[in-house]
Amino acid sequence: MPSLIDHAAVAALANQPLDWRFKGLPAEWWGATPAQIRGRAPDLFSSGMVGPVCVLHASALTHNLVTMARWCRRRGVDLAPHAKTHMAPALLARQLDAGAIAATAATVSQVRVLRAFGVGSVLLANEVVDPAGLAWLAREMAADPDFRVVCWVDSVRGVELMSTALTGSARPLDVCVEVGMAGGRTGCRTAAEVDAVARAVTASAQLRLVGVAGYEAARGHDVTAEALAVVTGYLTEMRDAVVRLADVFETEEVLVTAGGSTYFDLVADVLTGGWPAGSTVRTVLRSGCYLTHDDGLYDRTSPLRDAGTSGLTAAMSVWAQVVSRPEDGLAVLGMGRRDVSFDQGLPVPKTLREAHITKLNDQHAYLQLGASDHVQVGDWLRFGVSHPCTTFDKWPLIPVLDDDNRVVDLVRTYF
Ligand SMILES: Cc1ncc(COP(=O)(O)O)c(C=O)c1O
Repeated sequence: MPSLIDHAAVAALANQPLDWRFKGLPAEWWGATPAQIRGRAPDLFSSGMVGPVCVLHASALTHNLVTMARWCRRRGVDLAPHAKTHMAPALLARQLDAGAIAATAATVSQVRVLRAFGVGSVLLANEVVDPAGLAWLAREMAADPDFRVVCWVDSVRGVELMSTALTGSARPLDVCVEVGMAGGRTGCRTAAEVDAVARAVTASAQLRLVGVAGYEAARGHDVTAEALAVVTGYLTEMRDAVVRLADVFETEEVLVTAGGSTYFDLVADVLTGGWPAGSTVRTVLRSGCYLTHDDGLYDRTSPLRDAGTSGLTAAMSVWAQVVSRPEDGLAVLGMGRRDVSFDQGLPVPKTLREAHITKLNDQHAYLQLGASDHVQVGDWLRFGVSHPCTTFDKWPLIPVLDDDNRVVDLVRTYF
C-alpha cells in the first residue's frame, strides 16, 4: 500500500531553527531547533514567553486521536480528517498513524501543502473549475501513479470546464457528485440534477465517477431535534443517491463521504450498512475539529461532548496577560482577533468563575469580571477557544505542553 505521508519530511520540520517569525515564543529559543527544545522539555511559563501564546495539550490530543479512531472503527466508518483545520503536517501524520485513510483539503493550495509532505490520498472537498489548478493536479497525478485525489462536482457546466481543462491528462480525475441542501452551500439541490451531473461525468473521458459527497453542516451546527431531523433527511437523500446511481458509478467500490465534527453520529447512522446486495460502499467522514475539540461550538455540538471520559476534550488554549484594569469589573488583555477565533463565539476563561469576554479588538480583549474574580495587571489567564480552525491559522508554530506545562513538541502550521 502506498505511503499515506512522508514521515521523514514531517520529522525534518523539527530540525528547522526557530526565530522571530514565531510569535509568543521565548527569544532565548531563537537558533535552537524544535528537536533541541523537545529534548530540553522546558517549562513554557518560566522560559520567557511573551503573550499571548497559543498552546496545545499533549494528553488531550492523544485522548482525542484514540477516542475518534476507536469510535470510527466501532461504527464502521473511515476518516479523512479535514487538514484545513490545522494545516499542520505533524498533526496530520498522527491522524494517519491512528488509522485515518486520507486527508481532506478545501483548496488546490492546501493540496499543494499536503503534497509537499508526500500525502498520497486526498479528498479535495470542492468543485475545482480553475484550469491552472486542474493542470497542476493532472501533472501531480501523472508524476505519481499512486497519488489518489477525489474532487466534487455539482453542475454539468463544472463537468465541462473540468473536462476541457484536463484534456490530454494521463489518467482521469476521480469525482464525487455532490448532493446539496436547500439553503445550504454547494451541491445539487434535486435528485434529477444529481443524476444529470453523474451521467455527464460518465460521458467524460477526463473524469471518473467514484461516489457521492455532501456536507451536512452547510446550514450551521444547530443540534435541536428539529435541526437533527433536517440533517437526517439530507443524509437520507445522499443515501438514496448512492442506491439510485449503483449502476452508474465507474468503480467497484463506491465512496460516500460526509461528516464534519458536529453530526458524524448521524452520518454513521444513515450512511452505513444495508446497501443493496452486490455493492461495496466505503463511508468516509471528514471531521477536522475533533482533534482539538474546543470550549465553545464543538463543546456544545459534538456527538462525543457528553460522553464522560470516553468523550472528546479541549486540547487548545490561548494564554494572555492582563495589561490594564481601567475600571471596576473590567480587565483588558493583550489578546485579540489576531490571536484567537471569534467567528463562532468568543474565547472562554478557564481559570475564573464568573468572568466572560465581551469584545475583542485586533490586539485586545475585554474581560468582564464577576465579584469572585480577582485579577491584577500582569496576571496570566488561560482561555479556551470556540472553533479551532480560525485559531490555528493565527499561529505558525504552536508549543505542545504536557500536564506539567513542559514543552514536549512544537507544531508548525502552513496556512
Ligand atoms: C466540506 C467540509 N467537510 C468537512 C468539514 C469539517 O468539519 P468540522 O470543521 O466540523 O470538523 C468542513 C468544515 O467546514 C467542510 O466544509
